[in-house]
Amino acid sequence: MEVTCTHPPVRIDLGDRSYEIRIGHRLLDDPASLDGLPPSASALIVSNVTVAPLYAARLKAALQARYRHVHVVELPDGEAHKDWASLNLIFDALLENACDRKTVLFALGGGVVGDMAGFAAACYMRGVPFVQIPTTLLAQVDSSVGGKTAINHPLGKNMIGAFYQPLRVLCDIDTLSTLPQRELSAGLAEVIKYGPIADMAFFDWVEEYMPSLLERSPEALSHAVRRSCEIKAQVVGLDERESGLRAILNFGHTFGHAIEAGMGYGQWLHGEAVGCGMVMAARLSFALGCVDEDFVRRLTDLVRSAGLPVVAPVLDGQDNVGRYLQLMRVDKKAEAGAIRFVLIETPGRAAMRSAPDDLVAEVLRQSCLGDHERV
Ligand code: NAD
Ligand code: GLY
Repeated sequence: MEVTCTHPPVRIDLGDRSYEIRIGHRLLDDPASLDGLPPSASALIVSNVTVAPLYAARLKAALQARYRHVHVVELPDGEAHKDWASLNLIFDALLENACDRKTVLFALGGGVVGDMAGFAAACYMRGVPFVQIPTTLLAQVDSSVGGKTAINHPLGKNMIGAFYQPLRVLCDIDTLSTLPQRELSAGLAEVIKYGPIADMAFFDWVEEYMPSLLERSPEALSHAVRRSCEIKAQVVGLDERESGLRAILNFGHTFGHAIEAGMGYGQWLHGEAVGCGMVMAARLSFALGCVDEDFVRRLTDLVRSAGLPVVAPVLDGQDNVGRYLQLMRVDKKAEAGAIRFVLIETPGRAAMRSAPDDLVAEVLRQSCLGDHERV
């Protein structure tokens, strides 16, 4: 297998807010991981009750060589806790420990912890520095990179947040060894995503190496993280605040966010919803004449082979289509109530488009019944 070296770091170019994504082994307690970070008397590790017992002590020991006071706050675990109450626990920890505006926050965990720690960093004293240490595959290939931070609202996913870039991202591949298999699969959804939107050669590679990824081959995981971060860094470097291009990173997310909110946060994992949502978005792309059936079949097979669902859930037994449409209108990409989808124009290239409601309704009917299994 061709393996890309885990060095040098992937760079994300954003002028004076540029930073590195370092990908490798044992980064968690490598003193070199902290080189060049701004001096401060204190640091706060933001983690959760699952990840902190696994990795916080090692990170804390490394940080103590650099910061006089190192505090840890453990949030409750899960998407259902990506809310004001958890966010406030971070502010409580910062204030109770008299943290000043130079305090560096270290987000140690998956995307939920990363999104909340980043949002807290953006808000506390109007902005303190933070570092992302993603410990899920999903967070390493997507959420830790690019500066989107948020919490959920019961009416909509990630609706309250800010763009706020980290100082650095440390992807320690070794932390993926403790990840539950379901979470690994969820992360693979975001890996798969990069092929149809930007790089079909990578899609081919993911197809070929899916068994190695599922077996957690360190080489395969390193390559998947690196190539995903390269693509994301390029897109974010061109359109940090999503005035256009960056929306392609939301392929599968319009349907996916509706599934997450409609099922209740945490029922379907974010990556599961995105995996199924990509299949639905591919079907819509097919219905609009952009891609052929073979592409839809390939994507469906790949999503399924990652251990992800490809049949969408029924959200409302009385008016399922109506419920999906209602939820999809509460989406950051919607404009004046019109739903906008990220669709595949041709494999390897995506664009944002609206679609007639009756076509969307047909895709929803097929997807919830599993008709796309027969594509
Ligand atoms: P998560 O943060 O809930 O983590 C998944 C589970 O794995 C949790 O139970 C967590 O405690 C556990 N876990 C984490 N690391 C572990 C490890 N190394 N070993 C054992 N268990 C571990 O979920 P996620 O999939 O990482 O992230 C999903 C979130 O990311 C969603 O809220 C989504 O909206 C957000 N997201 C944000 C962006 C962005 O650009 N900011 C992009 C994609 C997704
Ligand atoms: N995950 C979508 C984005 O970062 O824009």
